[in-house]
Amino acid sequence: MRKSMVAGNWKMHGAHESAVQLVKAILQGSERSDNAEAVICPPFVYLADIARLLKGSDLVLGAQDVCAEDNGAFTGEVSGSMLFDVGCRYVIVGHSERRSLFGENDAMVARKFMATQRAGLVPILCVGETLDQRQNGETQAVIMRQLKAVLDAAGIHSFEQAIVAYEPVWAIGTGKTATPSQAQEVHALIRACICAGDARIGAAIRLLYGGSVKASNAADLFQMPDIDGGLVGGASLEAHEFLAICEAVG
Ligand code: 13P
Repeated sequence: MRKSMVAGNWKMHGAHESAVQLVKAILQGSERSDNAEAVICPPFVYLADIARLLKGSDLVLGAQDVCAEDNGAFTGEVSGSMLFDVGCRYVIVGHSERRSLFGENDAMVARKFMATQRAGLVPILCVGETLDQRQNGETQAVIMRQLKAVLDAAGIHSFEQAIVAYEPVWAIGTGKTATPSQAQEVHALIRACICAGDARIGAAIRLLYGGSVKASNAADLFQMPDIDGGLVGGASLEAHEFLAICEAVG
């Protein structure tokens, strides 16, 4: 059985004090079931402090991005081994905000995916279509293109240590969630594509849904057969919402 997961992507929100308070409130929250993994992805600069707070807890640390290179003269960048050093275990790669606002193309996303794994971290690979693409009937083609770029570069076996998040761009931060059946349709497509490469890896990989996930809609999404959890933005900034979403997945 696949272990479910809720990952909170804090994006560029908060300050040191609010980050610490948020982590403390999450840590004080109700016990999570053994079958669910909870991950928080704060901004880079707070990772080391938060890692200290998480010591001995079952809450796991992730980063929101990584450099495609392992080390060297890359001013402003943060490498996978640095993230591993400070206690991260997951890295979000190819988030739609990185793709659309910071010019990351499929090839760059694939390089970041591989850099993440070289550092011993697990990538959470984001894919998703825009509203225009959905309305033009291009959803399937876009998802397959984004996924295959990484499959071709990294190989099917790399998906043994990876997570894929389906985040329709039109649902991110808009309050407009994909319906459970819309999300399930794309998740089934992603799983089938990975199964075509290796049935065992496809059956085992965890697929997260992201895009306006809240405590009020989480249970309906998570009951779908190919939705193994959520990648949560706004709702992960409130401890009670995040904890309720973690409970819904358990
Ligand atoms: P929201 O949950 O705020 O829509 O953000 C989703 C997201 O982008 C998570 O990575």
